[in-house]
This record gives sequence, C-alpha cells and structure tokens, in this order.
Amino acid sequence: MSFRFHSGSSLTAAVSLLLLVYKANASGCDFFTGTWVVDGSYPLYNASACPFIEREFSCQKNGRPDSLYTKFRWKPLHCNLQRFKGADFLERFKGKSIMFVGDSLSRNQWQSLTCILHSSMPEAKYNLTREGDLSIFTFPDYKVNVMLDRNVYLVDVAREKIGRVLKLDSIEGSKLWNGIDVLIFNTWHWWNRRGPTQPWDYIQVGDEIKKDMDRMLAFEMALTTWARWVDSNIDPAKTLVLFQGISPSHYNGTLWDEPSAKSCVGQKQPVAGSTYPGGLPPAVEVLKGVLSKISKPVTLLDVTTLSLLRKDAHPSIYGLGGSAGLDCSHWCLPGVPDTWNEILYNLLP
Ligand SMILES: *[C@@H]1O[C@H](CO)[C@@H](O)[C@H](O)[C@H]1NC(C)=O
Ligand SMILES: *[C@@H]1O[C@H](CO)[C@@H](O)[C@H](O)[C@H]1NC(C)=O
Ligand SMILES: *[C@@H]1O[C@H](CO)[C@@H](O)[C@H](O)[C@H]1NC(C)=O
Repeated sequence: MSFRFHSGSSLTAAVSLLLLVYKANASGCDFFTGTWVVDGSYPLYNASACPFIEREFSCQKNGRPDSLYTKFRWKPLHCNLQRFKGADFLERFKGKSIMFVGDSLSRNQWQSLTCILHSSMPEAKYNLTREGDLSIFTFPDYKVNVMLDRNVYLVDVAREKIGRVLKLDSIEGSKLWNGIDVLIFNTWHWWNRRGPTQPWDYIQVGDEIKKDMDRMLAFEMALTTWARWVDSNIDPAKTLVLFQGISPSHYNGTLWDEPSAKSCVGQKQPVAGSTYPGGLPPAVEVLKGVLSKISKPVTLLDVTTLSLLRKDAHPSIYGLGGSAGLDCSHWCLPGVPDTWNEILYNLLP
C-alpha cells in the first residue's frame, strides 16, 4: 500500500482515524463505501408495527404513495452487512443503556432503533417515557434502555441577563451522559440557523461575548470542547463512544446532476453508484479533523455518503406538512436511519 500525505499532521490524523476504524470493526471491512440495491426482504419493519412512530417520520401514514424507497439495502463494496437481529441485540445488551445525544437527526435514528427492536420482539413489554429533553425507551424484561437526550449543540445555551448565550467552552449538559454504556453523539444542523429559529442571542468564547461569528469555526470549537470532555471523562473499558456523522439534506438538484430539481420532492430513486456528484458537505472535514485529535477511541458512523445517495428517502411533503412545509433533511421511517442502525449493529462488540 502506498499513501501520500501533504503534511506530518495529516499523516498522524489519517493514521489515528485508520486505527479507530480498525479497533471498532474487527472484520476490517469499510462499511461506508457501497451501493444501494433493491431487496424484497426490506424494510426491516412495517411502520404500522411501530405504534409510537412520530408523525414527522411516518411518510406512508402521511400519504406518500410510492414505497420503493423502503426496499433498498445498503451493500458495502467488499463485504456484506449482517441483517439487524433484534432478539440478538436485546440479549447482548441486557442490563445496558444506549443513548443518542443530539438534534432531530438523533431522534430520527433513536426512533428507528426503537421501531426495529419493538417490531422484532412484538411480545416483549416496552415502556416509553419523556421528561424534558430526555426520552427513555425501555424493555423492562431485558433491562435495556434506549435513550435520547435532545441537545442540539452539545455545548450549552444559558439564559443570562443579556439574553440567551451559546457557550462554546461549556458542556454542563454532559451530566446526563455519565454511566451510559454506548453514547452516540451528533450535532450540525443547528449551526447555520439564523433569524427567529436561532435559539441564542450571543455567542461566548472564553471570556469574550460576541453577537455572532463564523459558524463553521463555532461548530469546530464546540466539537473541540466535546472532544476534551471525551478525553477527560470516558473510560473506554466501560463506555463505547460513537459520532453519528453528518446527515445530508437535498434541496439542490444540481448537486445530483438534475438542475431542474429544486428539492427532494418527487424523487423516487437513489443516486446510482457509490459517489455523489455534489461531493461532501464541508462540515464532514471539520468533524473528521476534530475526531482525529481525540486520544480516546471514538468510532465515526460515517453515514454522509450513503445518505447523500438517498435523495428519494426524505419526507418531502409527507412529513409534518403545514407550516413546517417541505422536509428534505429528515428521513422517512422505515428508511435510511435503519441502515445507520444496521451498521451500528455490525460495529458493536
Ligand atoms: C403493513 O401492515 C399493514 C397492517 O397489518 C398491512 O396492511 C400492510 O400491507 C403492511 N405493509 C407492508 C409493506 O407489508
Ligand atoms: C415506565 O417508566 C416510568 C418512568 O421510569 C415508570 O414510572 C413507570 O412505572 C414505568 N411503567 C411501566 C409499565 O413499567
Ligand atoms: C445549487 O448548487 C450549485 C452548485 O454548487 C450552485 O451553483 C447553485 O447556486 C446552488 N443553487 C442554490 C439555489 O443554492
């Protein structure tokens, strides 16, 4: 094998990323490069067999007429993914807690996992509770907890006299993450919010309070704060840490060589092949840069490319609808997040 690198630091970064991937994936297979193939045995569950599924992701219930998008299986180029077996998962995770931490894309993956597990064990008792930002789905007979901590920036937003302050160096929200066996983090979609839906008035770096700053830099600083938290708080013998990669949106057909498409509306087929014409969103490189500097093992669930290929799999006009309008950011369930979870299942020890 021969590698060419432009600098010493990118060599170190690349080597540590490779090590992380190998540590997490004993088979050595790259699960993240592949193609989507039609498979009649998919989806993994029927939406009607998941009674607690949220309306936002229930595309069929919301009237989506086509269903081919539920029939695709992700096929890595050089190996096969093992199909998700819910009963096996519950046995292996008996007594354990899994927590997704992040924005609504975390909720999308959390909901997918709860649907996969419930539909594979429909007789097993379950309990779903919500308290503030924490949703807890449990299988009491297995003592398996599948949790969601809604935390869109990972770092804190504090109410102070001047207003709401996004604190890039502060991560008090981490109190909820202690003692969890598997943590799966995600943040990105809220960093570019402006106007009435931006949930902060000021941004703080160290002692400095600003009205605004470069959002990609703010994202990187927050990730770095999170990375420091991982390095000082995670015991790899007890806790497995993953990062759910950047989940992409489809609002510009030029990026998939269909300039007449202004969004994902009406898309019924994935992009063929293994690469996306529009390339990766810039946030991916920032994320990989920060992950390469963490010394504790963190596995990247590198779902960006496989999800970029799925311009057909968003709710589009079959999501919340109304004023929420068009949704080419989240994913229908059953759908793409089931594949993220299938890869997670294949990566877990
Ligand atoms: C899902 O379940 C419903 C109700 O049992 C059934 O009518 C429908 O055909 C099923 N859909 C698929 C795709 O299997
Ligand atoms: C469900 O969980 C809640 C909160 O932990 C608990 O109070 C309640 O008793 C549980 N219900 C069942 C049926 O186990
Ligand atoms: C769509 O992407 C192309 C290529 O990057 C860009 O030139 C164009 O401005 C984008 N269109 C919109 C509406 O953002």
